Amino acid sequence: MAPTETAQRKFLPYGRQSISEADIEAVAEVLQSDWLTQGPAVPAFERALSETVGAGQAVVCCNGTAALHLAMLALGIGEGDVVVTTPVTFLASANCARYVGADVKFVDIDPETGLMRPDCLADLLDKDSEKRIKAVIPVHFGGQPANLPEIHAMARQHGAFVVDDACHALGASFEYRNTRYRVGGNPFSDMTVFSFHPVKHVTTGEGGAISTDDVALADRLRRFRSHGIQKEGFACGSLAHAGDGRVNPWYYEMSELGYNYRMSDIHAALGRSQLGRLPRSLERRRTIAALYDKLIVRDLRLSQVVPLKVAANVSHAYHLFVVRVDFASLSVDRAAVMESLRGAGIGTQVHYIPVHLQPYYRKHSGTKPGDFPGAEAYYAQALSLPMYPELTEADIEYVVDRLSSVLREGEISC
Ligand SMILES: Cc1ncc(COP(=O)(O)O)c(C=O)c1O
Repeated sequence: MAPTETAQRKFLPYGRQSISEADIEAVAEVLQSDWLTQGPAVPAFERALSETVGAGQAVVCCNGTAALHLAMLALGIGEGDVVVTTPVTFLASANCARYVGADVKFVDIDPETGLMRPDCLADLLDKDSEKRIKAVIPVHFGGQPANLPEIHAMARQHGAFVVDDACHALGASFEYRNTRYRVGGNPFSDMTVFSFHPVKHVTTGEGGAISTDDVALADRLRRFRSHGIQKEGFACGSLAHAGDGRVNPWYYEMSELGYNYRMSDIHAALGRSQLGRLPRSLERRRTIAALYDKLIVRDLRLSQVVPLKVAANVSHAYHLFVVRVDFASLSVDRAAVMESLRGAGIGTQVHYIPVHLQPYYRKHSGTKPGDFPGAEAYYAQALSLPMYPELTEADIEYVVDRLSSVLREGEISC
């Protein structure tokens, strides 16, 4: 590769947002309107999102982390309770439990998929004789749906809720007993959480959402999203009502401690505009993944490089494209590989450092290296390659070609 060719190539990050003229117009329209926040764009985005995922209700908020926190609050999870998630996820899937004072326990993953192992969940539930486990948070890692039907059946039998973390999986679906179910709109979870961070399928800059079919849960989510304020069902009748019995027009009441986790209309307008392009962008991500699969298996011909396994019954949303690289048997160092690829204009990332190895969780959950062999084996080999709709066929060929060079030769000659 000639030096000028590398210098002229646009850098390929591991993920990035797509912003269209229509997105810019949608945001500008709100900026010129009377409502920058608490206006009509928020419920309009919520309606569009609930239709997209096939849920009765969608509640949007300021980010995916807040959405997870709201889900814990709405379920009444608190001190003395235990919340279960997997170690191979972003910190927020576990942190949300700590925000409400609950303890976190982890369930190992299958290193070939990155997904929660239902058999390991069964073991943990069996040991929980005091029934402290109140919620299970499976993560649809990378965009592939976890085995929700099995996880939900076990959780329900134990009396625990399921909140699936679909921050990677907007638009994913799975087939179960001859029926196709959408992530976010199926009977196998109580609430589903989404993130609209820029590397996700739909972005609002920062943003998040929860979908649910449970109207009472949605009401609680909306209340906790806005300081705990309610506008009906008042406890203080004499303050609430005028002499003629009508509710005072300025009156509101707070019975529970909430937050300001609202999404602005500016963000919501961007999200709704982006959502319109979701089918096209998912299709493109799936095409890119198929090309990666083909090139890695056919051309790379390195048995030490394997894309994550995808189950036959799922339609993957491909937020990430993760390959497992046996760095040890190739005698190459992952950091050096990433640096070489960066030098060639290719961004890669490691998703994720197992959460149970974080100093905070070693202290609070008593975890240590060796506790979750699946997660640790996965972590030793994981590498996320660029994945976003604007990547061209030539970009993908270039990524695989450079990966091949760096793994075979230890460096990229350019
Ligand atoms: C699996 C997962 N859960 C939760 C979050 C938190 O979302 P946010 O960054 O919008 O707070 C993320 C964000 O990357 C994530 O990847």
